[in-house]
Amino acid sequence: SDAGAESWAECMDVAVRTALRAGQMVRVCVMQEKRVSSKSTPTDLVTEADQHVEEMIISTLREKFPSHSFIGEESSAAGEKCVLTDSPTWIIDPIDGTCNFVHSFPMVAVSIGFAVKKQLEFGIIYHCFDGTLYTGRRGHGAFCNGVRLHVSKEKDVSKALILTEIGAKRDPHTLDIFLENMKKMLSAPTHGVRIIGSSTLALCHVASGTAEAYYQYGLHCWDIAAAALIITEAGGCVIDTTGGPLDLMSRRVVAAGSRKIADYIIQKLKPINYGRDDDDDDP
Ligand code: IPD
Ligand code: CA
Ligand code: CA
Ligand code: CA
Repeated sequence: SDAGAESWAECMDVAVRTALRAGQMVRVCVMQEKRVSSKSTPTDLVTEADQHVEEMIISTLREKFPSHSFIGEESSAAGEKCVLTDSPTWIIDPIDGTCNFVHSFPMVAVSIGFAVKKQLEFGIIYHCFDGTLYTGRRGHGAFCNGVRLHVSKEKDVSKALILTEIGAKRDPHTLDIFLENMKKMLSAPTHGVRIIGSSTLALCHVASGTAEAYYQYGLHCWDIAAAALIITEAGGCVIDTTGGPLDLMSRRVVAAGSRKIADYIIQKLKPINYGRDDDDDDP
């Protein structure tokens, strides 16, 4: 098992270097003219940069680790299967915050998670514009630019700062529930609710203790894989909105510095139904 642990450490080194290189690509691309198109809905944006960055990340990692499996947002969009098996699997979001990227709004990250036998081993999130690197390795803690991360100690929801995101679905029914949930969070009362346009960076705020909690319906496995490990290693809790353990493919999450705040949020939320990431019938 030591040999295994060693090799994951090597994977993590390669992943960090690849994430930094991806971030550099994003910084170059954001200055250039962007070719924007949409995927499932008019607000589900994708650019050539998303595709190029993902290609670079996957080809770099595949060359080093040819036997591993890969799940990437843009590969899935191109029809590749999104199934988590027991084999060592990389779960990649090349640009998290595409809409921000399109507007040059500086909240954009690269996210690389790695799971073996469906268990997350490490996660890396690189904030492309301020150069902050978040890392977490199972059993070894979470760090931001090498400094150990700890979640907030606040247990009182009335003193909490809560983050959330709205996914690509903007039909009136989805928006009604989203706003109803937001209203419940604001009238709890909490200190406030924020939407920054990047699930991974929002989750890094929970890991850093700069926000108490995060919840979302409609995120994908590549939004949560790396972040879930980073938050857990920072002492936080990342669970399903039903209160059970996190299911990477379920498209639901509540993350918080404390189980108490997570439970409070869970009990208030009204669910929004999204399909699963690994359901072939649901694109
Ligand atoms: C999205 C962003 C957004 C969140 C969506 C995500 P993308 O990721 O994180 O803030 O609301 O659910 O899918 O498409 O920019 O990688
Ligand atoms: Ca996207
Ligand atoms: Ca994303
Ligand atoms: Ca993305």
